[in-house]
Amino acid sequence: MAEDPVNVNEYQELARQALPKMYYDFYAGGAEDQYTLKENVEAFRRIMFRPRVLIDVSKISLSTTILGYNVSAPIMIAPTSMHKLAHPEGEVATARAAAACNVIMIVSYSSMCTVEEVASSCDAIRFFQIYVYKRRDITAQLVRRAERSGYKAIVLTVDVPRLGKREADIKNNLGTVKLSLSFYDRMIQPQLKNFEGLLPTQVVSDEGSNFKAYADLTLDASLSWKDIGWLRSITKLPILIKGVLTHEDAIKAVEAGAAGIVVSNHGARQLDHTPATISVLEEVVHAVKGKVPVFVDGGVRRGTDIFKALALGAQAVLIGRPVVYGLAAKGETGVRRVTEMLKDELELTMALSGCPTIKDITRGHVITDRERL
Ligand code: FNR
Repeated sequence: MAEDPVNVNEYQELARQALPKMYYDFYAGGAEDQYTLKENVEAFRRIMFRPRVLIDVSKISLSTTILGYNVSAPIMIAPTSMHKLAHPEGEVATARAAAACNVIMIVSYSSMCTVEEVASSCDAIRFFQIYVYKRRDITAQLVRRAERSGYKAIVLTVDVPRLGKREADIKNNLGTVKLSLSFYDRMIQPQLKNFEGLLPTQVVSDEGSNFKAYADLTLDASLSWKDIGWLRSITKLPILIKGVLTHEDAIKAVEAGAAGIVVSNHGARQLDHTPATISVLEEVVHAVKGKVPVFVDGGVRRGTDIFKALALGAQAVLIGRPVVYGLAAKGETGVRRVTEMLKDELELTMALSGCPTIKDITRGHVITDRERL
């Protein structure tokens, strides 16, 4: 393996070498048979280009706006948990890279740096991702803290009424008391230190995935569409709903007042055998009828993937694992390199397809496998 990766996929191997197996498996793994994990990536490969030629592409601009914020590219850093397992600087390093690249970072509810630490570390545009705890007051306080520290939107992830069955984590006893006494101290305490005694700080089990046990114990599986009204009542920030895969739910999300939708299957970590997100993106885009922006994540590994997502109607993509791999391999520099490589590849794809700006990318620039049959 060359020391300097030439594409983001090569960061995965560097991350594997850098991390303890338990942590690498946690980042890389998907649910059950991991069918959707492969499909998220494969489905992009079945979409082909219809490039246009003899268009002036001497200048290419990737810049765009997301919820009114000017960004350098239609790329956001997806919320992924526990960045200090990848690198000692954790989410602060990721945020600094996001600031340097002028892309939006979505900070996970289970970040290991507090929302305030991330906010004061740099001037990255930040959104805050939440789940709703059974203890709603704790969720409300987290939302208020994010709002006070300048986060620009709340991303409500709705595909985790319970954590998916991630078999590598079960085999590795992720976060069990026996193997990792300090796991919950490190993971949960910083963000939730004001709530000692309200949430369990560790789940007393010495085998299996305690991460799953903890999530299932604390998150509110009774959450339903009517609760979006509650969330809207406690914050003025726009709310994106992440984890929509059908036109039925897309319409409900718009009706509930979402400011945007993220088409996502949680990086294939929840329900195995959901379709690849790129293959249901258009269904959601058509249902939403331009009322709110639609974003997509899952399996985006190339600039060509980003172009395809935009052609099928996404306003931007979110990047999950490649960012964590970059962080594990080279800290802030790694996240910057991953982001820059994706931007460079997108720029090249736009030049070779005859699209000087993001607005020039249209549905007519790609052909899906269904259309080819
Ligand atoms: C995630 N994801 C996630 N999503 C979320 O809303 N909150 C979270 O805390 C996490 N945590 C998390 C940890 C890890 C290690 C991974 C890989 C993923 C899902 C994430 O936001 C995103 O939907 C997927 O990662 C996108 O797929 P790719 O880019 O990883 O293929």
